[in-house]
Amino acid sequence: MFDFAPLPGQSKAETYRDLTQAAQALIAGEPDKVANMANVAALIWQMLPTLNWAGFYRNVEDELVLGPFIGKPACIRIPFGKGVCGTAAASGLTQLVADVHAFPGHIACDAASQSELVVPVVRDGKVIAVIDLDSPEKARFDEEDAQGIEALALAIAEAI
Ligand code: SME
Repeated sequence: MFDFAPLPGQSKAETYRDLTQAAQALIAGEPDKVANMANVAALIWQMLPTLNWAGFYRNVEDELVLGPFIGKPACIRIPFGKGVCGTAAASGLTQLVADVHAFPGHIACDAASQSELVVPVVRDGKVIAVIDLDSPEKARFDEEDAQGIEALALAIAEAI
């Protein structure tokens, strides 16, 4: 077992730097994609406060299919273009949603979710997965969170 935690007083930028470094250490030399996604989901959960869901949807034949995550059981399949995750996958663009109830077509997997951050993971120019973070707080995520998770996505793209 590995214990990771944000250090008291740490800036967000430092937390994300540590998160990405820890993720790189966990996936180093491990070819199993499920194991790597599972550990990265657990790591996000440990390092970032105020989340109610953290995990992956994978691009399986141009449909998003649920991958390793921490949180309540969630919708299994999401078409490209649907919901926050499908919009991120179809556009290849990070979706930073301060209020999920204001997002047209948002898919409510957990009624507690109030805000959401979805970052595409791109390999060889193709969206291979998305990282989905949900929070029970409105406007939980900002541009720094988006950039931090984008850096993480880049660092793990070859290993998932
Ligand atoms: N809210 C997402 C669906 C996935 S759950 O949040 C885990 C969406 O609208 O795509």
